[in-house]
Amino acid sequence: MDLGIQGRRAIVTAASKGLGHACATSLAGEGVQVWITARTKETLEETAREIAESTGGTVHAVPGDITTEEGRAAVLQACPEPDILVANPGVKQVPDNFRTMSRADWDFWMEAHFYSTLDLIRAVAPDMCERRFGRIVSMSVSFIKFPQVNFAASHSARLGLSGAIASMVRELIAFNVTINTVCPGLFSTEALHTNLHAHAKRGNTTYEAIVEDRKKGCPAGRFADPSECGDLVAYICAAQSGFMSGQNIINDGGVYQGLF
Ligand SMILES: NC(=O)c1ccc[n+]([C@@H]2O[C@H](COP(=O)([O-])OP(=O)(O)OC[C@H]3O[C@@H](n4cnc5c(N)ncnc54)[C@H](OP(=O)(O)O)[C@@H]3O)[C@@H](O)[C@H]2O)c1
Repeated sequence: MDLGIQGRRAIVTAASKGLGHACATSLAGEGVQVWITARTKETLEETAREIAESTGGTVHAVPGDITTEEGRAAVLQACPEPDILVANPGVKQVPDNFRTMSRADWDFWMEAHFYSTLDLIRAVAPDMCERRFGRIVSMSVSFIKFPQVNFAASHSARLGLSGAIASMVRELIAFNVTINTVCPGLFSTEALHTNLHAHAKRGNTTYEAIVEDRKKGCPAGRFADPSECGDLVAYICAAQSGFMSGQNIINDGGVYQGLF
């Protein structure tokens, strides 16, 4: 299937590892020129080389922290007219209780999981409308549909973002500009395994026991490979995906049981 996006330009944030890396790889494989970001310059540059080699595509590394104005300005300066934006916040959610969190803690999650993506969308969407093509994907989490205990701050920031997007999309779709939110479940990335190790430590159990427990709780019986997220995102960015916008798309091996 030809996604019809060869020669397009994409920004993929937080992409030296994990889900961002997979999205950048899938897009580069479709002939999209990609600008990737992450904070650690050496790892990012190595990833850019690796994706370029494995796909034959063109990949640019723009180091920076995407939760800061400087980080966002750097990638927008390097790629001022993206056709595609995959806004992955990168920052992994960590548990914290609402009783003990300070206002500064809540602000941190708003910066990481709300403003970082919102500001990028506001920067690129108007020009995408002018050019009559734009595909924006916001990387979220399946748990926004069934919020978990001890994640109130991160979940509320991400839910607020989905709400803001739902309000914006109807102004954009007539210009062939879409914004969709991808809501992954358990994908086998460094962040997932770090979280599971921490969870095992907190629960006084083993990492292996936690992994088995999580896999049992997933009807697919496994963790997904990041490429299963990357390819979904590439499809959402396809030329022929212009009729779908404002969706919160669950990709979690059947864990979420709701119909909508
Ligand atoms: N893996 C899952 O199962 C899963 C499921 C649902 C949602 N998610 C969400 O998806 C996102 C990515 O998770 P992942 O599993 O792919 O994590 P990962 O494997 O740890 O990769 C994180 C990537 O983001 C970069 N990053 C982190 N903070 C950043 C920042 N402030 N600015 C720029 N880049 C940053 C990291 O590089 P540097 O550290 O060098 O910056 C790295 O390239 C997270 O928001 C996570 O909550 C993951």
